[in-house]
Amino acid sequence: MVPKPSADRLASAPAKPLISEKAERFTESVIRDMTRQAQLYGAINLAQGFPDFPAPAEIKRAAQQAIGADINQYAITWGARSLRQAIAAKMKKCRGLEVDPEAEITVCCGSTEAMIASLLAVTNAGDEIVIFEPFYENYGPDAILSDARPRFVTLHPPADPAGEWRFDERELRAVFSPRTKAIILNTPNNPTGKVFARTELEFIRDLCLEFDALAITDEIYEHILYDGANHLSIATLDGMRERTITINGMSKTYSVTGWRVGWAVASPALTNAIRKVHDFLTVGAPAPLQEAGATALSMPDSYYEELARAYRARRERLLPALRQAGFKTFVPRGAYYIMTDISSFGFPDDVSFAQHLVKNIGVASVPGSSFYSRPELGARQVRFAFCKTDTTLDQAAQRLLKLRKA
Ligand SMILES: Cc1ncc(COP(=O)(O)O)c(C=O)c1O
Repeated sequence: MVPKPSADRLASAPAKPLISEKAERFTESVIRDMTRQAQLYGAINLAQGFPDFPAPAEIKRAAQQAIGADINQYAITWGARSLRQAIAAKMKKCRGLEVDPEAEITVCCGSTEAMIASLLAVTNAGDEIVIFEPFYENYGPDAILSDARPRFVTLHPPADPAGEWRFDERELRAVFSPRTKAIILNTPNNPTGKVFARTELEFIRDLCLEFDALAITDEIYEHILYDGANHLSIATLDGMRERTITINGMSKTYSVTGWRVGWAVASPALTNAIRKVHDFLTVGAPAPLQEAGATALSMPDSYYEELARAYRARRERLLPALRQAGFKTFVPRGAYYIMTDISSFGFPDDVSFAQHLVKNIGVASVPGSSFYSRPELGARQVRFAFCKTDTTLDQAAQRLLKLRKA
């Protein structure tokens, strides 16, 4: 029989930290927390980027059919062949890239998993990852979880609200070094709506080549573009095909954020590593929804044209409403968010303003500081999502007018 430890020995045992140092280093997602607050206070949720309108009928039908046909067991860990073939065909059609569906694609549980699996697959402890800020908030914890050191570079807001957010080339070059493993790019960009121009991507490409760094590019808003903006994948630039991991997913293009289907496209060597990490993280994305993904990715061009048109109309609905309520708005060229400047309201910071909005005005937004490594950079900003029905946007506009009367 194993002797029981005495009560004295138990009391004197040194306490081990319950929580890992990594988990202590980041907070819960502010965006997802704002959704919970919206529910708590009965506020309209313009915080989290998920549509409140139905997904396309043909895609839902394809999912139902797949479940009916008993495609209900694990798919191949790196993705159902039908979906990988559809991804390769779409990459060829939209980006002109030849991609081998057998060796260069890993289907994951959303682009969220594709990003963390990619980072875990390529970084060693202490490697540096360049991240533009404001950034989609997952990238910060992603870097911590993969033991990488984030190096942030500011995207500066335009003085003229209709202008472009820009990075300073000297500031970007200054954070690249032999320790740089990769740069994370997100174009079209959340939260700024920036669509990176060819010259900017070429500058980034040159740095990647000079410092032997990878580009990990999140292109989840590739079809949501305005004012003639063009989406360019950095993988298509000379010298970048082999050093780019291109991440995308179904969530935004097909309005199915709850399905959790995304993917990473990369060279066979990189894909090999990403597939291994992915396998042990999640085994695979939902099998029937991958089949529906193959249907989704084969939609005609008119689907994407209509998607962009509908989002343009929503942008045109929310922009004037925000201005009327007293916000300075930065006009997005892509994605479905509007970053605003809240200086005119006289609140001490973005968090107290967002709290006021959700509790007293009845609209949930995201405080700007949650998109920055240095919270003070976002202290005068909040973000609104406009992936919502006209009714939702109009109700939000009505409520926001109360800000004028307050
Ligand atoms: C830039 C960006 N990447 C990734 C995601 C999440 O994508 P997924 O649903 O494919 O995990 C979001 C969601 O808001 C996003 O804005």
